[in-house]
Amino acid sequence: MPRTAVVILAAGKGTRLRSERPKVLFPLCGRPMLTYVLQTAAALEPAETVVVISPDADDVAALCEGWPATTTVVQERQLGTGHAVLQARQRLERFGGDLVILSGDTPLLGDETARALLEAHRREGAALTCLTMTPPDPAGYGRIKRDGDGRMVGIVEERDAGEAEQALTEVNGGIYCADPAVLFPALEELRPDNVQGEYYLTDVVGAVVAKGLTVVGHRAPRWPEALGINSRAELAQVTRFMRERINARHMEAGVTFIDPGAAYVDDTVAIGPDTVIHPQVHLWGETTLGRACELWPGVHIIDSRLGDEVLVKDSSLITDSEVGSQVQIGPCAHLRPEVILRDGVKIGNFVELKKTEMGAGSKANHLAYIGDATVGEGANIGAGTITCNYDGIQKHRTIIEDGAFIGSDTQLVAPVRVGRGAIVAAGSTVTEDVPPYALAISRVPQINKEGWAHKHWAKRDELKAKTKKSPQEED
Ligand code: UD1
Ligand code: CA
Repeated sequence: MPRTAVVILAAGKGTRLRSERPKVLFPLCGRPMLTYVLQTAAALEPAETVVVISPDADDVAALCEGWPATTTVVQERQLGTGHAVLQARQRLERFGGDLVILSGDTPLLGDETARALLEAHRREGAALTCLTMTPPDPAGYGRIKRDGDGRMVGIVEERDAGEAEQALTEVNGGIYCADPAVLFPALEELRPDNVQGEYYLTDVVGAVVAKGLTVVGHRAPRWPEALGINSRAELAQVTRFMRERINARHMEAGVTFIDPGAAYVDDTVAIGPDTVIHPQVHLWGETTLGRACELWPGVHIIDSRLGDEVLVKDSSLITDSEVGSQVQIGPCAHLRPEVILRDGVKIGNFVELKKTEMGAGSKANHLAYIGDATVGEGANIGAGTITCNYDGIQKHRTIIEDGAFIGSDTQLVAPVRVGRGAIVAAGSTVTEDVPPYALAISRVPQINKEGWAHKHWAKRDELKAKTKKSPQEED
């Protein structure tokens, strides 16, 4: 089998994004942009992948670590794409196979298209093959020049193009396949005599054609595959295509989207079949959903795992938590990090949980804050219950054992334990442990003063009569 090596260009400054962050690290549906390109490179099973990075790009170098046969080379100064490829010369000029050049800012390129480019290159016996596309608006891209027979003869960058060249609609996707024995000598001969004063990789095309060697312009099957990211607008455009691709993948696997254009699912997320996703749902990071879950509008889940048949109602936020099966959450519930909900738990509206485990079948249905707590199975936490977990210095735990019943508007002042099957009366402030099956009641005993209200209302009527104005006064 012919061998392949890959060069990924990732040293550009990304000036047009106006950011401190290296362009290739911009997040795209939950992964840095460069990760998608590294994935495409790996899919070609290359003998070697060399990533060209800028100096001080430790984060970029760290991202490349761990990918098979992948190394980085530093391009000390960003003198252009041709200069960038030259940085890999030492490693690859004697490489006997085909060299694929990928661009770190073109993450939509599919594995199949990269493979098809390589196959076309081999089939045509080309010295250089370029991936081309015809986008609705060619602005910003290098234009492909072909001769009367349709053979590719050159690329002219937009800034250097005359009017007739600017009118060309086929553009350079910035992805190439080359014979290293032809490419590196041609790169050595590049001169920065263009508007930007850069060493253009694209100038190699004309040089190779002038040598009488074959250059092939291979058209991408779908134009957005070679859509590059240079600006925030292009970042948004690529994100939209990436999202469509991710949601289509889930739909094929049996997930229903009420409106796939309005669901924001990271590439890192796994979703079980028969799950239904309503509009404005965001699923981020290392999130997994089981089978037949339903997420109502506005649900946002980050780095969390949900079991099967979980219903999350409108506008709930779940972060870094574990949820079992047949659990109900929301509307407007907030699961902060380190929450564990076992099977059959019910968390109702305006309930906030943090570092809390709720045993199977336990409920907190309304308006509660349960933090730093361990709740057993089948416990019921009444409306307005609060765990007072913080004394201003330290956090303390609350333990509520199996089957306990916490009446509404209870404050549990931690550290405190409510024993199995115990009942806390509504409105209690619990500062001491409650033994199993005890009733804890801490509120002031009620006194009823018979007829007291009559005197009260009489006073009101008297006051009203005094302040009432005479009809003359009202004039
Ligand atoms: C380049 C092509 C253009 C093509 C477009 C496709 C050239 C001269 N132009 O333009 O024909 O239509 O891609 O997207 O090649 N980089 C480095 N070091 C450098 C400069 C760039 O590593 O000194 C990297 C960038 O990080 C980027 C890639 O090379 O990943 C392309 O560079 P960029 O400046 O984005 O080129 P374009 O202007 O988009
Ligand atoms: Ca670009």
